[in-house]
Amino acid sequence: MNNYIKIILFSLLQIVLLGSTSLAQNSEVIEINTKSTSLVYAVDQSGRLIFQYYGKKVEATENFKQQHTYSKPDTDRDFSYEAYPTFGLGNVNEPALAVIHADGSLNTELAFETVETKSNDDFSETVIHLKDRVFDFSVELHTKAYFNEDVIIQWTVIKNNENGTVKLNNFASSFLPLKAESYYLTHFYGAWAGEMSVAEEKLENGIKAIECKKGVRTTQTENASFILSLNHPSQENSGDCYGGALAWSGNYRLAFQVDEWRTLNVVTGINPFLSAWNLKSGESFTTPEMIYTFSNAGRGQVSRNLHDWGREYGMTGGKEIHDIVLNSWEGAYFTFDENTLTGMMDDAAEMGIETFVLDDGWFGNKYPRNNDDAGLGDWQTNTKKLPRGLDYLIDYAHSKGLKFGLWIEPEMVNPESELAENHPEWIVQSNGREKITWRNQLLLDLSNPKVQDFVFNVFDSLLTTHPGIEYVKWDANRHVEQAGSTYLSDAEQTHLWVAYTEGLYAVYDRIRAKYPDFVIQDCASGGGRLDYGALKYHNEYWTSDNTDPLSRIFIQYGTTLIYPPVGAASHVSTSPNHQTQRMTPLKFRFDVAMTGRLGMELQPKDIQGDDRIFAEEAIKNYKQFVRPLVTTGDLYRLKSPYDEGGWASQMYVSKEKESAVLYAFSIEPHLRGIYPTIKLNGLDANKTYQITEINKNDKSRFWGNGHTFSAEYLMNVGVELKIADQYDSAVFMLKAVE
Ligand code: GLA
Repeated sequence: MNNYIKIILFSLLQIVLLGSTSLAQNSEVIEINTKSTSLVYAVDQSGRLIFQYYGKKVEATENFKQQHTYSKPDTDRDFSYEAYPTFGLGNVNEPALAVIHADGSLNTELAFETVETKSNDDFSETVIHLKDRVFDFSVELHTKAYFNEDVIIQWTVIKNNENGTVKLNNFASSFLPLKAESYYLTHFYGAWAGEMSVAEEKLENGIKAIECKKGVRTTQTENASFILSLNHPSQENSGDCYGGALAWSGNYRLAFQVDEWRTLNVVTGINPFLSAWNLKSGESFTTPEMIYTFSNAGRGQVSRNLHDWGREYGMTGGKEIHDIVLNSWEGAYFTFDENTLTGMMDDAAEMGIETFVLDDGWFGNKYPRNNDDAGLGDWQTNTKKLPRGLDYLIDYAHSKGLKFGLWIEPEMVNPESELAENHPEWIVQSNGREKITWRNQLLLDLSNPKVQDFVFNVFDSLLTTHPGIEYVKWDANRHVEQAGSTYLSDAEQTHLWVAYTEGLYAVYDRIRAKYPDFVIQDCASGGGRLDYGALKYHNEYWTSDNTDPLSRIFIQYGTTLIYPPVGAASHVSTSPNHQTQRMTPLKFRFDVAMTGRLGMELQPKDIQGDDRIFAEEAIKNYKQFVRPLVTTGDLYRLKSPYDEGGWASQMYVSKEKESAVLYAFSIEPHLRGIYPTIKLNGLDANKTYQITEINKNDKSRFWGNGHTFSAEYLMNVGVELKIADQYDSAVFMLKAVE
C-alpha cells in the first residue's frame, strides 16, 4: 500500500471514529447563579431534566450543552441523575417523588416543558415546568437564588389534573446528586437539655437518614439541617462544603444515599412516614423550602452564608438589636406572687436589663397552673397569684423602663383544664385508645380550623386586652405519640402530620399579618422547634433549657453552625446550675452568654457585692461593644470545643472589619503554664487593631492588653492568652486604628 492510499484510509478511519464520538447535545441548559456558586440543569434530547452541577461558580453554558453522561451497567437506557427523580424512570435510588396515580399506576416520568425566570437585585427565581409523559400530572421545580448570600432554596409544586385522586407517597422538596471520592456528613443530635450536639461521619454505600417522626417539637433530638464535606472531613476555612436546612417544623427526612456508582443522592423534604397525601383532581401540593449553600472555603463560610441569609430572609427582625431579657423561669418557676415579680423587675432595671418576661405559671383559675399538672389551655390570669392582673405588672415594668413579655403554650392542653372539659374533640387522639400524656399534657389538633382560631385568639386577645405586652415566648412541650384527628376524615388521617404544620403556619401567618414586628421567641422545651420554617416567624429561639455555660458552649457551637447567633437566646443562670449541678464563675457564665442574645434566668437579687458590679459592667459592655457585633457581624470559629486541647474560641467581626469581639474559654483544667495560642480570623489584613480586654474582673489575661497589633500578626502569629484553669475565660474588643 503506498503512502497516498494509507493517508486516505487513515482519514476515512478518522471520519468514522470522529463521527462515532461526536458529542450529543442537550437541547437546553438552565444555569442558576449566585455571587460565587452555580447550579446547572440541562434538558437532554429525550426531554428529561438532568442535574449537571452545583458548586463553585462556573459559567460555561456551551460545555453544559454537551451531554456528558455514560450509560451505566445494568441499565439499558442512558442513566442520568434527573433533577427531581421519580419512581418509574429506571432510577431505583431513593426517589424524590413516588405517587399512585388515579388509575392505580405506580410510575411517573417527568419531561421538561418550559422554564421561566424572573429576578431582582437580591434574588432570581426559576420555575421549571415538568409533566408526566402519560398523565395530566405535573411538577414545578422552584429555585430561588439569593445572589449576595450564595444561598439557593428549592421546593416543588405538585399538580394533579388527572381524573381522580393521586396518592402522594414520597414528595421531597429537593434532590441533589454529588460526585466525589468520599462524603462526610456533619449532622446534629441530642435530647432535652442537650440539643445540637455535633457528629461527623463518613458516608458509605447505603442510606443514612436524619429524620423526625414526632410531628411536633421535631428538633429536640435531631435537627433538619446538615453540612456535607467532599473528600475529607469538613474544615473550618477550606474545602468544598455544602450546608443544608429544611424549612419545615413537621416530620422531615434528609436521606443521604451513596449509590452503587458512588454518587451521593441527597433527598430532602417531608418525611413520607405514614403521611400519604391524597391530592384530589385539580389540587396542588407545595413542598417546604430546602435551603442550600455552598462554599469552597470550608464550613466557616457555609455558616456565614446561612447567617447572612437567615438574618435577612429566614427570621423576623434578624438585623435588629435584641433586648437583654430577664426571664422568670429559673428564678421563680411556678412559685411567685406580685412581689416576687416586681422585686425581680427592680433588680433587672437596676442592672440594665431591658425586657422582663413572665414565664409559665401565671394563668388558670378553676385549675390553677401551680405546677405542670393543670391549667394549660386556660389563658386567664390567675387571680390568686396576681390579684391586680397582668396590667399591674405591665405598668410596673414600664415604670421601671422595662418592656414586658409573657410565656404561652397555646397548642397544648392539660387534661385538668377547662379547655379539655369544653373541647375534648380538639385534642389529637386515637379513637378508643387511652390518651398518652407527656409532661401531663396533650396536643391540640391544629389541622382543625377551629383550633387554629383558638390558638390565634390566645395570642391576639392577650395582645388586644393588654397592649402593653411587647414580647411573647411561644412554647411547645410535647410531641405526637399517637396520631389521630376527629376533624380529618377516616381516609385523610395520614394528613395529620402535614396538616398540623400547615395549620401552625396558618396561625403564624395571621399573627404576622397583624403584628409584623412584634418580638416572639421560638421555644419548644428549649431548642425543640429550631428550623427555618418556624424561625421565619420568630425573632429569636430559646436555644436550650440547659443554661449551664459549659453545656452551652457545645450547644451554641452546633446551633450557630446553621442558625444566626443573633437569635440564640443565651441566659446567665445561677450556680450550681439547675440542670447539671455544675458550679462555674459568674464571669464564665456571662462571657458564654454574651456570644448570643444575652439574657438572665435567675433571681437577680441573688447577685450581690462584687458579682453585682461585675454583672452591671458586663451588661454595659454587651450593649456598647458586643451586641452590635453579635447582631450583624460575621462569626469566625477559632477553636472548636470538640477539638483536642480543652479550649473554645470564636469571634465576630463587623462587616466593614472596623471592630471585632474575641472570646476564649478554657473548658478543661490545664497543666501549669499551658495556655492557648489563638489565631484570629476575618480581620482586614491591611489594618491594625487595638485589643482591649473587657469583662476583666481581677486579673489581666493578655500581655498585650491595650496595645495595637497588625491584623497579619493577630491572624498568623496569634495571641497567647493566660487562661488555663477550667472555666476561666476572656473577652476582648478589637478596634481598627488609623
Ligand atoms: C419549657 C421551656 C422553659 C420553660 C418551661 C415552663 O420547658 O423550655 O424555658 O418556659 O417550659 O414550663
